Amino acid sequence: MKIAFFDTKPYDKPSFDKFGKENGIEFKYFETKLNEDTAELANGADGVCVFVNDTVNAKVIDRLCELGVKAIALRCAGFNNVDMKYAYGKIHVLRVPAYSPYAVAEHAMAMLLTSIRRIHKAYIRTRDFNFSLVNMTGFDLHGKTVGVIGTGRIGRVFIDICKGFGMKVLAYDKFPAKDLQNAEYTTLDEIFRQSDIISLHCPLTEETYHMIDEESLEKCKKGVVIINTSRGALVDAEALLSGIKNKKVGAACLDVYEEESELFFEDYSGHIMQDDTLARLISMPNVIVTSHQAFLTEEALYNIAETTVNNLVDIFKNGSCPNELCYKGGVAEDCKSGKCF
Ligand code: NAI
Repeated sequence: MKIAFFDTKPYDKPSFDKFGKENGIEFKYFETKLNEDTAELANGADGVCVFVNDTVNAKVIDRLCELGVKAIALRCAGFNNVDMKYAYGKIHVLRVPAYSPYAVAEHAMAMLLTSIRRIHKAYIRTRDFNFSLVNMTGFDLHGKTVGVIGTGRIGRVFIDICKGFGMKVLAYDKFPAKDLQNAEYTTLDEIFRQSDIISLHCPLTEETYHMIDEESLEKCKKGVVIINTSRGALVDAEALLSGIKNKKVGAACLDVYEEESELFFEDYSGHIMQDDTLARLISMPNVIVTSHQAFLTEEALYNIAETTVNNLVDIFKNGSCPNELCYKGGVAEDCKSGKCF
């Protein structure tokens, strides 16, 4: 089985090579992202393996189908970059629904602690033998209220971590779980009104697009901390920037950014930053930006490769895959039957 692997980074290869060899899969690695111009590279491949910023729109899907590609294996959980409606019935779309919720939830907490305890500032100061504590005052997490939006795999781990810090946890989910522990469900409005910290752990959909915007920030407490490790477009970056400037937002921890696809994962240190909003956000003392790094642990990389390879083996050798995505009844969801078409 031949798989064209797009947007390859050095840290992808060891685990994919290992599981690929064990299962008779040959990965052909391309550094370029998949898009309308590069789809041609999949010529001769049975499937393609893509990541969060590859473009899988109708044109790309059509070209892949013309080339005889039968499956798109996402090596990630989110699938907002795939036109699922268009793909349905044409090409199999497989994903890795979970690989390490701990990786993302722990990163969210790492960013929160870094920002509110000014660790990023302390690191730079002490390297310069500046041992002053002026402007370094933080606040205790203990006793604070955190609002968690999305109580799936990652949201729940984050809730448990927050509970360990002695925080009060409010939760919102469009589909509340019956067995949620360590938190009480409330409305989205109450999350905005009561939370000292808000952490986003829901997928990007039409409904969640810009859920943090001028209107929702207006409802928030002064000094609210916004954490986004989910998808960039959950936050209206311009509104966030205004919130930071007028001090409504006390800190922002962003692992994802709406316009990240042309920037994140690449080294632009020698270039002039063209994205003024991102440049301004990064320049703020109370904003931490990491470049979609939350997933990046050894455990997660290993699990991602193992599940992706198993997905490909399932679909090509067994004819069905439990991690296939379907677009049915107006929503994209995991295929319940394990066989979509
Ligand atoms: P999950 O599918 O286990 O949980 C998502 C939760 O969001 C579900 O409980 C669902 O009911 C809820 N939800 C759906 N629509 C909603 C809405 N309109 N409002 C509120 N809640 C809603 O997903 P998981 O594994 O917890 O991942 C969450 C998100 O984290 C993913 O969608 C992905 O975008 C992001 N992610 C980011 C990574 C990173 O490296 N920064 C890595 C992995 C995932």
